Amino acid sequence: MTYTRIVGTGSFLPANVVTNDDLARRVDTSDEWIVTRTGIKQRHIADPEQTSSDLAVEASKAALAAAGVGADELDVIIVATSTPDFVFPSTACLVQARLGTKGCAAFDVQAVCSGFVYALVLADSLIRAGQAGSALVIGSEVFSRILDWNDRSTCVLFGDGAGAVVLRADSRPGILGSMLHADGSQAEILAVPGNVSGGSIIGSPFLRMDGQAVFKIAVKVLDEVARETVARCGLSLDDIDWLIPHQANVRILEATAKRLKLPRERLIVTVDRHANTSAASVPLALDLAVRDGRIRPGHRVMLQGVGGGFTWGAALVEM
Ligand code: ACO
Repeated sequence: MTYTRIVGTGSFLPANVVTNDDLARRVDTSDEWIVTRTGIKQRHIADPEQTSSDLAVEASKAALAAAGVGADELDVIIVATSTPDFVFPSTACLVQARLGTKGCAAFDVQAVCSGFVYALVLADSLIRAGQAGSALVIGSEVFSRILDWNDRSTCVLFGDGAGAVVLRADSRPGILGSMLHADGSQAEILAVPGNVSGGSIIGSPFLRMDGQAVFKIAVKVLDEVARETVARCGLSLDDIDWLIPHQANVRILEATAKRLKLPRERLIVTVDRHANTSAASVPLALDLAVRDGRIRPGHRVMLQGVGGGFTWGAALVEM
């Protein structure tokens, strides 16, 4: 039997840190409002010339080094992003070239803040089907490019960054089980409803969100998908050592842990420092907790995505 194991993690954050007080000098907001409603204290924002592929390459190099795997050993590279460098080619193809390799499959996945979990499940399926022996899965975003910096209701919530994992086929189980879902009838509650056509932007190039609708659905589906995933693995919620939900908002994270009856100490939180980095948030949080020694070999980690589409999913991983 072939399984998929995570053999290395990496991440990268742009150097520029923007605090809530910095934002309060630009729009009518306050550190107190942002911290109380979201738990966010600061976010990293890419320089104007930094792209998703730039952040992805740095995160990938860190993950490959941690795994002791060379780029030329990869069979597939998948980048989850909603802020690609170009309409095409895919960011994954750009990353492949920058890692100095060619020949392996490379493509992007678009499932917004669920993108990393979607990409991880795809890579796991390719490995278990014998189509790939190793994979690089990346979540990378420059959400700062699709924010209206004059809209206080959205610009305070997001940040830029990238996280990556290297996967390998193994005879021991790593990814124990997963579930993916979508409900396209909720597309409007979180969207960048624009496109490029005939040389112009059609619609809006900025993120729009019904915050309360997103909050309600997120808490509900994160609870449901965690239960579905452990059941699929033949395990129970008590078997989860660490919970890493998509880092949208500390109130969503804490409500999810509470509903799943997991103590706060088993919840990994980075949203205070990174804000919401969309597809990058889960691998960024995973890498941070692996590197600071909280997540150790043998621990079971529940990774959860939720976001625009509306999309959601989870994977239970034994490290
Ligand atoms: N600073 C100060 N006041 C603000 C700000 C701000 N940054 N933003 C909005 N307000 C004001 C509003 O204008 C409104 O004022 P009014 O009452 O005078 O009209 C008031 O605060 C309340 O606005 P609400 O939108 O009702 O605030 P709410 O309590 O719902 O909090 C929030 C907004 C934090 C976005 C909340 O709805 C939420 O957490 N939603 C979850 C969405 C989320 O996390 N999205 C991230 C992306 S989605 C994802 O990744 C899955």
